[in-house]
Amino acid sequence: MTVMARLYDSDEVVQAIEDMAGKIAAKHGRGGTFAIIGIANGGIRLGRRLAALLGAKLGREVPFGVLNAQFHRDDIGSRPIPKAFMRTDIPFDISDSTVILVDDVIGSGRTVRASINEVFDHGRPAKVELAMLCDRGSRGLPLEPDYVGIRVEAAPDEQVLVSLGEVPTESDCVKIGAGLPSPLQDISGNEVECWTRKDLVGIEELSREEIDLVHSLASSFKETLDRRQKKLPSLRGKTVVNLFMEPSTRTRVAFEIAAKRLSADVITMTESASSIVKGETLRDTAMNIQALNADMIILRHKSAGAAQYLASRLHVPVVNAGDGAHAHPTQALLDTFTLREKLGQDLSGKKITILGDILFSRVARSNIWALRKLGAKVTLAGPNTLVPRQFEEMGVEVVHDLRKALAGADAVMLLRIQHERQTSTLFPSLKEYTASFGLNKLRASWLKPGAIIMHPGPINRGVEIDSDLADSGQSVILEQVTNGIVCRMAVLYLCANAAAVMQANSGNYFK
Ligand code: CP
Repeated sequence: MTVMARLYDSDEVVQAIEDMAGKIAAKHGRGGTFAIIGIANGGIRLGRRLAALLGAKLGREVPFGVLNAQFHRDDIGSRPIPKAFMRTDIPFDISDSTVILVDDVIGSGRTVRASINEVFDHGRPAKVELAMLCDRGSRGLPLEPDYVGIRVEAAPDEQVLVSLGEVPTESDCVKIGAGLPSPLQDISGNEVECWTRKDLVGIEELSREEIDLVHSLASSFKETLDRRQKKLPSLRGKTVVNLFMEPSTRTRVAFEIAAKRLSADVITMTESASSIVKGETLRDTAMNIQALNADMIILRHKSAGAAQYLASRLHVPVVNAGDGAHAHPTQALLDTFTLREKLGQDLSGKKITILGDILFSRVARSNIWALRKLGAKVTLAGPNTLVPRQFEEMGVEVVHDLRKALAGADAVMLLRIQHERQTSTLFPSLKEYTASFGLNKLRASWLKPGAIIMHPGPINRGVEIDSDLADSGQSVILEQVTNGIVCRMAVLYLCANAAAVMQANSGNYFK
């Protein structure tokens, strides 16, 4: 986009904000509770500045919160999701008070409509008012702001751009630009990092920021799990096909629930009920599902590389739900999400021990990538036939002495023996495996006090884990399962949005 003119300079913008604060104070200053909520991203600094000005004028603190209406928008794919996603954070009760929603620009009113829905997910305010720094007209909805700083005349194809500091600065301004804005640039032309992947095949290719973004969205989705109305409209009208060519309980059901919570229609197919048993190839099966207007495919397959193979051949997003011994990215995302909930957001330096059949485990591989990217120290343990030293090349420690592997660990992740992938017997018997490497009460006492016990499931009670330990307070196994819903909601949402942005740009992420 070419910026054509600077419409309002710092003095005018500062005065407009002062005037808005004056009008709000005049209306609400005499009593009654009201709060300011800034709509992400443009309304956050404006909201903070208004709350500070009002606090000074009224001599009392004015509650301030942040709201992200992204999941209530009806225009998925209209804009990319920035990696620095601002979560809704309303740290006070909005029930029965007046909520003043604040944004930098109001145009069609779609953001405000979505924001009102988000507000009502958090409580029942007595009244909602709108405070907008710039009203650029061209409204498509019957919404009028209660407080307006500046009325801007702009043609439909022009953009109104606002730059505001945390406090008044000389760079505060309102500009008008012609042409389409680049969604990857801010008002100053600086790059805005966004999620641009239509597929999720593995963790290896994700950046630390992308993992953080998934976790941030998942935290937002987690807040919706306990609501009476659990559904969000984000993927309304989309069809997700769960193509499960291997058995699954957790992953399959979690993806189904995740897609349904986002209002998508879901169809689940298993190999035995598909035409693969009649000789159809995976590629043809997937091409047919795409031709049937599916918007997304979730694939579990026994062959490593199957998800990548489809992702590079289909225009619809493909999400890997486990491919052979290669990768299980959403499992690693939910495991690290759970670890961050339990051990704190910063995992750097935390000792995480992965114990069991590492050689045949896609969960281990994906977790090694995710944990290393998050700065954790990873120790692999188990029989040397299942935990070869080659894994050290991934930046992890390989330890065959169980006591040493567990000593001081903040968490232990147990893995079952993957009989279905083993082609020869790599240890004498399950009984001997349990005797040497099964986690029991004594061995758990070698962990750091308060350490957590994890397992991706399915668990084999009495083999890799003592049954009582699996049900103990130290175990977070079922919490991992629940977190699988919200991490998968985040992945579905991000990949669907990226694919829709791509489609709108004729196959390129951006023009
Ligand atoms: N953790 C895991 O992938 O479990 P399922 O095989 O039941 O999906």
